[in-house]
Amino acid sequence: MSFKLPTKEDKHDYVHDQFERIAKGYDLSNDVISVGMHRAWKIRAINELLGLAGHKASEHGEKYLDICCGTGDLALTLAKRAAAGTQITGLDFSQNMLDLAAERQKRLARRKDKVKTVQMEWICGDAQNLPFEDNTFNGAIISFGLRNLTDLQKGLDEMARVVKPGGRVVNLDLGHSTVPLFAPIFDAYFSNVVPVIGGILQNDLKAYKYLPESGRTYPRPEAISEMFRKAGLINIRHIPQALGTVALHVGIKR
Ligand SMILES: C[S@@+](CC[C@H](N)C(=O)[O-])C[C@H]1O[C@@H](n2cnc3c(N)ncnc32)[C@H](O)[C@@H]1O
Repeated sequence: MSFKLPTKEDKHDYVHDQFERIAKGYDLSNDVISVGMHRAWKIRAINELLGLAGHKASEHGEKYLDICCGTGDLALTLAKRAAAGTQITGLDFSQNMLDLAAERQKRLARRKDKVKTVQMEWICGDAQNLPFEDNTFNGAIISFGLRNLTDLQKGLDEMARVVKPGGRVVNLDLGHSTVPLFAPIFDAYFSNVVPVIGGILQNDLKAYKYLPESGRTYPRPEAISEMFRKAGLINIRHIPQALGTVALHVGIKR
């Protein structure tokens, strides 16, 4: 089946419909496709968000924003590592994803005291037009979301706008590996095997053909760093993960 990415005009509705459709099996597919590695990448990204090497949690009363939060995977991991009284907001435009996030939060809160002591909210909204005042959050993060926006720069501009001066903006998304031998093997896996996995687990071949294509057209890490600069962020770093197949970017609001 040949596949064409949506046009810029169609992208918003196309992406929205896709995530509404695949919400239910999303977490399982994510685990299978990344062989569980997305968990380690997210923890690394959270450590960057909090500005630590893994030994300190957030401070009481701090506020963090997870944009394109999906089923809340990253926000809930952050909640487990955050100090009591931290406020975490997850935002996504797919209500089906947010409903699953809220259910996961309830399940975790029954088991883990930590999640109980963190205040969490799930907001349905557009990443390119955030419903928050300037300088609201101590940090903002987006994981595997930026690639899906119609206007990537607007998404980063909005993250920078709502973060307080000195706060961090973190983006975790697909990268472009240049490691000889490995890069073509990964490309073959992503283009040929991932759609089959998605087709079997989710019965949605189209959504999992979109995934490698959206990665291929996603800007290279240097271009993402430049977008961070345009958003007014400083001390920008690109931290490659998984031999460069995943790109973690961090910047600080002036
Ligand atoms: C690949 S999922 C990532 C979910 C989660 N961050 C993770 O890493 O598991 C992308 C998410 O971005 C959301 N999304 C895409 N475009 C969006 C937009 N313009 N505004 C808000 N959410 C959006 C989708 O609904 C979907 O839940």
